[in-house]
Amino acid sequence: MFSKEIYLNRRQELRNRIRGGIMLFLGNVEMPMNYADNPFPFRQDSSFLYYFGISVPGIAALIDQDEDKTIVFGNELSLGEIVWMGRQETLRSKAEKSGINDTRPFEELSVYLRNALKKGREIHFLPPYTAYQQFLLCELCSCNINELNASAEFIKAIVAQRSVKQPEEIKEIEKAVNISNEMHLLAMQLAKPGMKEYQLVSAIEKFAADNECRFSYPAIMTIRGEILHNHFRSNTLKEGDMVLNDSGVETAKGYAADLTRTFPAGKKFSSRQKEMYNVVLKAFEDAHSIMRPGLNYKEVHRTASLRLIEGLFDLGLLKGNPEEALVNNVHTLFFQCGVGHMMGLDVHDMENLGEQFVGYTDEEPKDTETFGWKSLRLGRPLQEGFVVTVEPGIYMIPELIDHWSAENRLADFINYHKVMEYRDFGGIRIEDNFLITKNGFRRIGNGLSKTVEEIEELRSRAY
Ligand code: GLY
Ligand code: MN
Ligand code: MN
Repeated sequence: MFSKEIYLNRRQELRNRIRGGIMLFLGNVEMPMNYADNPFPFRQDSSFLYYFGISVPGIAALIDQDEDKTIVFGNELSLGEIVWMGRQETLRSKAEKSGINDTRPFEELSVYLRNALKKGREIHFLPPYTAYQQFLLCELCSCNINELNASAEFIKAIVAQRSVKQPEEIKEIEKAVNISNEMHLLAMQLAKPGMKEYQLVSAIEKFAADNECRFSYPAIMTIRGEILHNHFRSNTLKEGDMVLNDSGVETAKGYAADLTRTFPAGKKFSSRQKEMYNVVLKAFEDAHSIMRPGLNYKEVHRTASLRLIEGLFDLGLLKGNPEEALVNNVHTLFFQCGVGHMMGLDVHDMENLGEQFVGYTDEEPKDTETFGWKSLRLGRPLQEGFVVTVEPGIYMIPELIDHWSAENRLADFINYHKVMEYRDFGGIRIEDNFLITKNGFRRIGNGLSKTVEEIEELRSRAY
């Protein structure tokens, strides 16, 4: 946990943003894998972590704005539980470290809320993302699932606060990125033809654990880099393949990193791979370089997309005017996703609070229709203190190429005979994490090899 002053200040700032009522925070519970006593690793809800810092399952908290109370609800271990789990720090003690002296048994939460509801008081809660939360909220608010209305005022206040990272958060994210950098270097040092993807994953997972971290999301370690969220890990690395490693750790306090590097499974990129890699690298460099407060992140996406188009034009896959091609979304044949997202306590920060609230503004709502753009998670003006990823890529998805080609879609811009030569090329992504500063941006962490030369130099010493 951070110091209690940090949690006291965070809660005070939230209170300054909310007019009245009760703010309810549900902590997470243990989630059974196959039976109740065999759960998935526990992860506390991120807003709960942000405002209270207590990472134990089965608790909740509220801030009663009108009655000036902050209460943690949860049960201390019974003697029977102590027999099996040993004596542990009490919830009371943990709550005190968060600056809260009022802890009550979990059962009292429903009594407290029922009394408030009887008086017609407002209860603010966040959108539930698990069945447990839905069930509990229905019970607490005495309503049906389709009557659960999360509080927009509450969501907006939390998003505004959590979006701007404070110094103690930036330090944690920096730590996550630096450990993740080392983790990526390890993968680039260990990989060799004949290895299985899962062997690389197990090596980096051990590295994360050795550093008191865990993955901030399931690692993507694949020779099929064009599959955007590929969690299949049983392929064998072969000379001529590229390995796409999208992985990052989260620290013990819960802050994430999210990095991607693509490197040859052998010692060198082929000349075709090198050319394509440099197209992605140029998109990466030019797109992140324009970031500064006030710039809409859509421009980062647009710049990356344009550079990809220009690069593919130079390689003969595209033709015509690049700007016109961009307007016609030609790039989405190769770049189907968004160029990045917010990052913090969640790798896709606050995604559970809703993309429209987190990534967009009321004036400029999210495009939920257009292929490519609808996958952009962030499309609002950047602010000092935001932490974002930038992650352009080229993904040659055979099924998508076949589909567009059969329709001769956008044929004024696409040389399909040339694209067909790349049908089984795979995918390349480069991803780093950035802090938006007063005048621009700063790459978080000590940096990780990225150019063809740097990567081939690392690979030359690999095996
Ligand atoms: N690691 C998932 C992403 O890059 O968004
Ligand atoms: Mn990633
Ligand atoms: Mn990412």
